[in-house]
Amino acid sequence: MCGIVGYIGSGNAKDVIIDGLKKLEYRGYDSAGIAVVRDGKLEIKKHVGGIANLENLIGDDPMTSNVGIGHTRWATHGAPSDINAHPHGNQDNTIAIVHNGIIENYQELKQELIEKYGVEFKSETDTEVIAQLIGVIYREKKDLLDSVYSAVSKMRGAYAIAAVAQDEPDKIVAVRKDAPLIAGLGKDSNFIASDIPALLKYVKEIYLIENNETVLLTKDQVKIFDENRNEVKREVFHVTWDADAAEKEGYDHFMLKEIFEQPKGLSETLNRRLNDEGKIKLEGITLTKEHIENISKIYIVACGTAYHAGLVGKYIIEKLASIPVEVDVASEFRYRSPLVDKNTLFIAISQSGETLDTLAALREAKDKGARVLSVVNVVGSSVARESDDVFYTWAGPEIAVASTKAYTTQLMCMYMIALYMGLEKGSITREYYDKFIMDLKAVPDKLENFLKNVSQIERDAKMLYNKEQVFFIGRGLDSAVSYEGSLKLKEISYINSFAIAAGELKHGTIALMEPGTLVIALACQDFLYEKMVSNIQEIKARGAYVVSVAKEGNDAIAKQSDQMIYIPECRDEIAPLLSVVPLQLFAYYVAKERGCNIDKPKNLAKSVTVE
Ligand code: M6R
Repeated sequence: MCGIVGYIGSGNAKDVIIDGLKKLEYRGYDSAGIAVVRDGKLEIKKHVGGIANLENLIGDDPMTSNVGIGHTRWATHGAPSDINAHPHGNQDNTIAIVHNGIIENYQELKQELIEKYGVEFKSETDTEVIAQLIGVIYREKKDLLDSVYSAVSKMRGAYAIAAVAQDEPDKIVAVRKDAPLIAGLGKDSNFIASDIPALLKYVKEIYLIENNETVLLTKDQVKIFDENRNEVKREVFHVTWDADAAEKEGYDHFMLKEIFEQPKGLSETLNRRLNDEGKIKLEGITLTKEHIENISKIYIVACGTAYHAGLVGKYIIEKLASIPVEVDVASEFRYRSPLVDKNTLFIAISQSGETLDTLAALREAKDKGARVLSVVNVVGSSVARESDDVFYTWAGPEIAVASTKAYTTQLMCMYMIALYMGLEKGSITREYYDKFIMDLKAVPDKLENFLKNVSQIERDAKMLYNKEQVFFIGRGLDSAVSYEGSLKLKEISYINSFAIAAGELKHGTIALMEPGTLVIALACQDFLYEKMVSNIQEIKARGAYVVSVAKEGNDAIAKQSDQMIYIPECRDEIAPLLSVVPLQLFAYYVAKERGCNIDKPKNLAKSVTVE
């Protein structure tokens, strides 16, 4: 999705902005642009395509200036083009703005600007309407902050906006409503951005901007105002990620780096929530024993990979805490009639914490009286802020569009939530709980060892990369993991892949099995192992080529399979933490073999902030 970077200070704005925009590339975009005020004149440069195109356009021009804003656009209103790229200027090109989000009433505003003020529009975007509106208001007010306030009062929708004016080169004004925005606090310089990685190289201290707040940045200070223009005091948020976290550090792709970071992310996520006696501590969480005892139902709501983590969460919470759980895709949850009341616990899972569908579902559940517990990676994100309680995943920044370490750390949170609830409710014994925690603690080392030798997976991928379709099958928790394996493969390799519960195959999908059809079969649930072997036999009988994933020592399945991938021995419940990793690697190596753009697959954005 779109990204914003703004800079004001003693350095050269263009350099900081281009660097910041590159750090936001992972969000997905189709054009990029920059506006600076140089020698009292506003200059805008923008280009369709990657930031490299923008850099070519700028060429050797230093665009020397101490103030500017930049943007990566992911098209919503109007096709990707030079004209539709941000920043957008007003009629006489004295004010420029960048914008993330959607202005719902832009048609009305546009009409009014044309009819009343004779404004001539250049682009098809809703964003230009904001620039023109601010421009018209500025003619009278001659004050950027005043004009932004006034314009925003006429706008409906979701947005983060940053604006600069030719006649006020000593400031940037930014405003947030339902789209992420942070301000970075530097020395002799201040920053605005839609995401932390854009600023990691420059600042560690930031302000998290809240909805309906306006920010006034000068070189020396950052002031935040509420919607009534009262100044707001905000605590400084210290970012713990280091700048390297957003670099590839020798790996070919962020995705591979992030796969290999999973042992660390898992132990961080677990250990931050364990006290000295190995008990889960709920520091900062207000959910009480009484709340837990009164929960009649849990909805886990999320999108994509986070939804798949929810599928595992359902199995575990129902098993350990004996509470009924429904898992919903966020975009569907809102448009049915979920039976939510004050005894419902709503669990939102989101890496970015900015996914609009998840956020909207959360708000709906809250309105109906549910308590909201979220599992989020980005500290201070919208989902985190709007929840009653947050379980953070300590995965560190996830840059690749394909989610990997966020998924496994989300699973870790699901285990902890289920164990905590189970113990509080008395549905599991302390002995069971202690043993389970011990087993979870062992996972990072097991995974670390597993990752030392992945050459077999790479070889399998090299042999199988040209398949046109792939099926993922499994039973129980393995079927939940199959969905994730399938999504990983399709999103980065563009192979048509399909996941199905193995027992369901014979009810239709088996019709697609023919000689050579590639099936990845997960058989990591001991109590379902024999049933899985039978399912594999059924598809082998139709000529399928089967790659099985099983726990070390389960050799019987090898006789039925064409290739084997063994994961370390573990209890059934936590097998998803280990079995998903070969699937992530398989997807990665297949995509690499096919020459795909692994970290930024086509048509996808890292953080989906539109409906
Ligand atoms: O930031 P979120 O976890 O809310 O994002 C949800 C999905 O958009 C995300 O998991 C998406 O499916 C990934 N591309 C999967 O790899």
